[in-house]
Amino acid sequence: MVKICCIGAGYVGGPTMAVIALKCPSVEVVVVDISVPRINAWNSDHLPIYEPGLDEVVQQCRGRNLFFSTNVEKHVSEADIIFVSVNTPTKTRGLGAGKAADLTYWESAARMIADVAKSDKIVVEKSTVPVKTAEAIEKILTHNSKGINYQILSNPEFLAEGTAIQDLLNPDRVLIGGRETPDGQKAIKALKDVYAQWVPEERIITTNLWSAELSKLAANAFLAQRISSATGADVSEVSYAIGKDSRIGPKFLNASVGFGGSCFQKDILNLVYICDEVACYWKQVIKVNDYQKSRFVNRVVSSMFNTVSGKKIAIFGFAFKKDTGDTRETPAIDVCKGLLGDKASLSIYDPQVTEDQIQRDLSMGKFDWDHPIHLQPVSPTSIKQVSVVWDPYQAARDAHGLCILTEWDEFKRLDYEKIYESMRKPAFVFDGRNVVDAEKLRELGFIVYSIGKPLDPWLKDMPALA
Ligand code: UDX
Ligand code: ADP
Repeated sequence: MVKICCIGAGYVGGPTMAVIALKCPSVEVVVVDISVPRINAWNSDHLPIYEPGLDEVVQQCRGRNLFFSTNVEKHVSEADIIFVSVNTPTKTRGLGAGKAADLTYWESAARMIADVAKSDKIVVEKSTVPVKTAEAIEKILTHNSKGINYQILSNPEFLAEGTAIQDLLNPDRVLIGGRETPDGQKAIKALKDVYAQWVPEERIITTNLWSAELSKLAANAFLAQRISSATGADVSEVSYAIGKDSRIGPKFLNASVGFGGSCFQKDILNLVYICDEVACYWKQVIKVNDYQKSRFVNRVVSSMFNTVSGKKIAIFGFAFKKDTGDTRETPAIDVCKGLLGDKASLSIYDPQVTEDQIQRDLSMGKFDWDHPIHLQPVSPTSIKQVSVVWDPYQAARDAHGLCILTEWDEFKRLDYEKIYESMRKPAFVFDGRNVVDAEKLRELGFIVYSIGKPLDPWLKDMPALA
């Protein structure tokens, strides 16, 4: 029986291992983590992350061939294949601060493997890491090997949150990079055999280590740079027309208040850090994304007579995209901070994000979110002008404006007539994700701003803030 151990029970490790366990009944999969609350949650009825379909998969396999444990050393020492999906935060201090990845957790995981291993291991790099991490890890392991043979593989994840289970069950491709030596090829084959239990052979691509690492960064940077918006033109028309070209395709052309999530910005920063020559281009992609968010805030403030001071603004959606409770790098953080800077009072509703999380995100500095201290349940000093409610109608009551920041499907089905009646007039809707039918809302009396769409005639006369 092949034994797999995954270090890191997060958004990547948890769902990926659950699907491997589901599809490979003859493989024993143990997910380990140093965080006791996280492992307890994985072993409970209330999993630590929200992902459609995940509960069912875990229920089927947990206790059969899928286990969650804090006994990191034991399971690492027993495993044949070790996946590493620990945090790789962006450095907040020292050389490369704000750009380079902090590999402290990766390095300590590698050193721990070297300490406890008693037999040959295949070590699989799964978390988002800068190119050449595998080589660094290989050095740590081989210099501490005590005669043990280590093979390092890069198997970047391409799952997107909110559709992780589907992406894992039916991936466009699985990429496995390894050394071009006989031992390296043997390790690639061992991992390939795992995926081949449910992924068609032609979708499993094998490459060298470096190509696999770079492919992940390049793919995400490419996707991220596609998301930008235009003014004056109707963005859905433009993206429909561009997307019709089969060489480009229709995906990832939706305008939004900006992209978020734990990967895009980090991957681009990693790319910036390794290739100075083109760094300017990629930095611009992040700058445009930041500009998108401040432009949205400016639009809200300028529309509401140049001030939101003391006004209640309802925020619909806080997660970085629909169908996830993940808030890492969500554009909602920057938008809310911008509005709070103008002294607005916010009432926030998201179907999957808790008050604790929102308060924490709004009091945190940039890049701090990925440092483990924030995984611990500390009670943050709450921001008084922010209230978090579990009902969208309550969030909107007596509000002057309403901002939609995540494209949750339920926002399309709300009773906007009821919402309009309960709001102050003029009642503004700022749709950062193009989820509502602007024309219908205008008929109800709302003044509507939709990202990347022609301006509401009412707003045309309002001077935009610089
Ligand atoms: C991304 C990659 O897609 C995935 O392959 C990789 O493994 C991890 O990083 P994820 O961050 O989960 O996945 O979500 P994704 O669907 O890529 O969306 C990222 C951000 O872009 C979200 O904030 C989303 O709302 C935004 N987005 C996406 C748009 O604004 N417009 C689009 O058309 C698509
Ligand atoms: P991702 O989105 O990449 O999965 P997460 O932050 O959700 O990232 O998960 C990373 C997990 O890795 C966290 O739960 C953290 O506790 C865990 N972790 C970090 N370092 C170690 C380590 N040395 N050993 C075990 N688990 C670790």
